[in-house]
Amino acid sequence: MARVYNFCAGPAAIPEAVLSQAKDELLDWRGRGLSVMEMSHRSEEMVSIASEAEADLRELMGISDDYAVLFLQGGASSQFSAVPLNLCEEGATVDYVNTGQWSKKAIKEAKRYANVNVVASSEADNFASIPAFDSWQLSDDAAYLHYTPNETIGGVEFFWTPEVQAPLVADMSSTILSRPIDVNQFGVIYAGAQKNIGPAGLTIVIVRKDLLGKSRAITPTMLDYQTAADNDSMYNTPPTLAWYLSGLVFKWLKAQGGLEAMEVVNRRKAEKLYGYIDGSGFYSNPVEVASRSLMNVPFVLADSGLDKAFLAGADDAGLLNLKGHRSVGGMRASIYNAVPEAAVDALIDYMKDFARENG
Ligand SMILES: Cc1ncc(COP(=O)(O)O)c(C=O)c1O
Repeated sequence: MARVYNFCAGPAAIPEAVLSQAKDELLDWRGRGLSVMEMSHRSEEMVSIASEAEADLRELMGISDDYAVLFLQGGASSQFSAVPLNLCEEGATVDYVNTGQWSKKAIKEAKRYANVNVVASSEADNFASIPAFDSWQLSDDAAYLHYTPNETIGGVEFFWTPEVQAPLVADMSSTILSRPIDVNQFGVIYAGAQKNIGPAGLTIVIVRKDLLGKSRAITPTMLDYQTAADNDSMYNTPPTLAWYLSGLVFKWLKAQGGLEAMEVVNRRKAEKLYGYIDGSGFYSNPVEVASRSLMNVPFVLADSGLDKAFLAGADDAGLLNLKGHRSVGGMRASIYNAVPEAAVDALIDYMKDFARENG
C-alpha cells in the first residue's frame, strides 16, 4: 500500500523509518518475546527505553541538569492549568501574550487560578502578526510570562525570545524540535507530543529545577511537577508505547543530523510553499512575513466556493488533511519534521494544477 502525504496539524505524520522499526519490534521487542505495550513500566526494559529517550531528548535540545524533563499525560491543554498551579500562589499576577487561539485557551484556563495580565494581543489584527515587544505592558511582579511560540491554527511563529525578568513559560507544542532553541532562556517548556515528538498521549514538560516544589496545596497530584520529577514520570502508569515511539523519533532526528539539520530542511520547505503562495495570484496567506510559521502554513483560495473541490482533488492526489482548523476555515498545510520535502513539492504541483484549471 502506498503511503500518502499527511499534512495534519496533529496527530501528525511520523517518520516512516520509525513506523517501520516499530512494526519490526511490535511482537517481540529485541528478543524479549513481548511487545513494549505489554511491559511493566517498572521493568528493566521499559526503564531503559524511558531513560534513553530522555537522554536523547536532552542531547537534541541541549537540556542541562538544571532542568527536569517530565513525560506526562493530559496533553498541552492540561498544562494550561498545571502551569499556574505549579508556579504561582493564589491571587498572584501572571503575564500572558495573546497571539492566537491557543494563547486564548491558555489565558482562559489561567484566569481560574491567577490574576492574568494580558501584556499584548494581536486579536484586533485577526492574529496575523506578533505585537512588537516594546508595546508589551509587563507587570512588575509577574510570577511568570506565558507565550505560544508557534500558533498552530493561525500559523504565526516567534523568531525571537522575549527577554523578561519573570520565568518564561512557553507552549512549544507545534515548534519543539523543528529548530534549535536555547533552553536556558526558559523556566518551563511544554508540548503535546502529537506533532513533532511522536504519537498523541504523551506530553513533555521541561522545567527548571528551581521552579519545582512551589505548587499550591490544591494542585492535583497528577499535575504536580515535583511529584512527576520525584518519580521519574512514573508516579502512575505512563503512556509507555508513546514514550517508546517518541524515543525512536529522537533517534531518527539524531540520525538526520539533529535540530540544526532539521532547521535547514524546514526553512527550505516553508520558503518554497510561502514563495509559491505569494506569487500565485490565486492563493494567499494573511500572516506578516516576519512571523510566518515554519510548521503550519494556512492559506485561502481566491474563491472559497472552490474549497471543497480543492480538498477532494487533494485527497485523490494522496495529499491529506489540508482543511484549515474549524475555527478559521480555509486550508492549512502542517509541514512538521516528518513531512518530507517531496510532500511539499507534490503539494505545490497540485496547487499549481488546481489554480490553472480553476483560475
Ligand atoms: C500550540 C498548541 N497548544 C496546545 C494544544 C493542545 O494540545 P493537546 O491536544 O495536546 O491538549 C495544541 C493542539 O493542537 C497546540 O497546537
